[in-house]
Amino acid sequence: MPDDSPSASDRLPVLVSGIQPSGTLHLGNYFGALRQNIALANDERQRDRAFLFIADYHALTTVRDAEALRRYTTEVALDYLALGFDPDKAHLFVQSDVPQLGELTWAFLCVTPTSLLEKGVAYKDKVAQGLTANGGLLTYPILQAADILAYTAPGRDLLVPVGADQKQNLEISRDTAARFNQTFRPDDPLFPLPEPLILDEVAVIPGVDGRKMSKSYGNAIGIFDEGKALKKKVMSIVSDSTPLEDPKDPEQDHTFALIRHFATDEQRGEIAEAYRAGGYGYGHAKKALLSMITEHFGPARERRRQLAERPGEVREVLAAGAQAARARAGEVMAEVRDAVGFLNP
Ligand code: TYM
Repeated sequence: MPDDSPSASDRLPVLVSGIQPSGTLHLGNYFGALRQNIALANDERQRDRAFLFIADYHALTTVRDAEALRRYTTEVALDYLALGFDPDKAHLFVQSDVPQLGELTWAFLCVTPTSLLEKGVAYKDKVAQGLTANGGLLTYPILQAADILAYTAPGRDLLVPVGADQKQNLEISRDTAARFNQTFRPDDPLFPLPEPLILDEVAVIPGVDGRKMSKSYGNAIGIFDEGKALKKKVMSIVSDSTPLEDPKDPEQDHTFALIRHFATDEQRGEIAEAYRAGGYGYGHAKKALLSMITEHFGPARERRRQLAERPGEVREVLAAGAQAARARAGEVMAEVRDAVGFLNP
């Protein structure tokens, strides 16, 4: 039985999570983060506990087209709302609508050794490829620490639902919180250490080539892909050359790796059995996956279509979310300014 007494709900952690508007959201984003974010944010036991944002400051480290950034940002908002996020229960907003984040990032950067920044995975990868990394990419994890810790509330834990690829960023956020506390408030820590929430079974959703599904690898299936485009992507999922009639191991197949997230336990068992029995080809599995995707997102696709015709409504949700986020971040920043020695008016 869930404990829904008021004292238990007082202790529910604050929930913070961001998604970059750097492309169309895909099944990895959905199973790795969006689905949990929405379920947790809509939790009946407590309103206003979740701060879910569209990380456009972060996207600016790579996106170079203002129109595209605006379009992707709006699309993430549409995705959230179509997939069931309830704006009466929690806050959805755009990161750049919270100017306090710049100030908090600066305060954090001033207690961060540069050697730590140079160990950042995204930064290191870029440099290893011989590419020039910009300063935004170098300091990216510290902005992420700021956009998590800005929503700190007294006496509450901070929980961050993410996929496995965010592990290092979350460790840096924890180190940053600890370092700030140690430097400026050793006897009365201001920040909690944020806890990642990474669900094992959806920690890394594979793309059509079997690598981690990613906007930048060109291996993604969009949440709202449909028709021919969806079919083409599903049919392009890489499989081995075992003949149709031979038995196959479902655990080694990329199509099955996606099927498992859509199927009920019963369907999953039946399909796995068919793989093992032989006479069931990868084409059959792909067709099954295609209809599961279409069915799973059918109602949301319709809601999204309707919402897209009411842009004013989406803007209102984002504006209300931003107001709440600025209010919370403002309270936290007043304490930060005081702790570091700025003259608070
Ligand atoms: P981003 O925009 O790359 O991804 C958004 C979320 O989707 C998860 N994800 C996946 N999960 C499982 N399998 C996959 N193939 C997959 N691909 C993506 C990510 O883990 C993430 O949870 N730095 C973040 C954005 C961010 C953020 C934050 C996240 C900025 N501030 C504060 C949490 C808290 C990022 O680039 O996520």
